[in-house]
Amino acid sequence: MRNIIIDCDPGHDDIIAILTAIAHKEEFNILGITTVAGNQTIEKVTNNILKVLDFVGVKYPVSKGYSTPLVKPLDVQPLAHGATGMDGPQIPDAVSKPTGMHAIEFMKKTLMEAEGKITIVCIGPLTNMGIFLKTYPELAEKIECIAIMGGGVYNGNTLPKAEFNIYHDPDAAKIVFDSGVKIIMAGLEVCYSGSILLTETEKFAEGGRISHFVYDLMKFYQGYAIRHGWDRTAIFDAIPFIYLMHPELFKAGEYEVNIETDGKYCRGMTVVDTRGYQGELHNPKTVLLQADREAVVKILFDSMAELDRVYG
Ligand code: RIB
Ligand code: CA
Repeated sequence: MRNIIIDCDPGHDDIIAILTAIAHKEEFNILGITTVAGNQTIEKVTNNILKVLDFVGVKYPVSKGYSTPLVKPLDVQPLAHGATGMDGPQIPDAVSKPTGMHAIEFMKKTLMEAEGKITIVCIGPLTNMGIFLKTYPELAEKIECIAIMGGGVYNGNTLPKAEFNIYHDPDAAKIVFDSGVKIIMAGLEVCYSGSILLTETEKFAEGGRISHFVYDLMKFYQGYAIRHGWDRTAIFDAIPFIYLMHPELFKAGEYEVNIETDGKYCRGMTVVDTRGYQGELHNPKTVLLQADREAVVKILFDSMAELDRVYG
């Protein structure tokens, strides 16, 4: 059992990732969820997670975080996630409200009160995480590790060499990567290797209420893949959670990783040093490289079936 805080910008894949974590109570004790602007505005991403938690019938403290990156301008992504950040499913508006605490104050309170260490899973831009570490560096020792969906070893998506979460707030990402806290990085390559086929997605329609909700999410979300002529969709944000549960399903390496914070072409690039002959590693990150695709997809289906069973 791992105590976790989830920092997110829901986001279709954020939602599926969080549902996967909720389905595995034996693995994750979710202490709270913090939201950050990225896929959409802070108001929309916060509203999205509140709506989904109410729809499922579960309660976790949700605390709103930063509405813009540390330095760069906000750059939401309607092409991938729609105007709401969660286009597709039609579910009731949220009844639940956020805690009223700022995300980094929730992180501070939770880390101070925890007996043991806490894993923070960051599946959006690292604005909250970076500013938290800058504001409360003394609490870094209470963090077991920071598991991140972000970056890439060789390629990007928002830019040729920059993945969106790092691209959106490279300055906060640099604070996190330079902090000395243990980092597990699930970049684009490992996420793509664990993609779900368009044909496999149809299976969600055979399930119960939660599986059907995920099917409706996927029917919108996979439109991005279809428009690009791809036969599969990466559920990017689920990968860090699945790694934390089953590291044996992945290939990974230990590498120095630095963040490019500026540059017309490379702002937000995770510069992963794969040269291998650079001697002693000073601040290596665990960089995930490849996933067992079929096993990852089975975990997604089994997770939603478990939620169908428990929450009807
Ligand atoms: O590049 C993929 C990442 O950007 C995912 O976290 C997705 O939700 C978007 O935020
Ligand atoms: Ca995300």
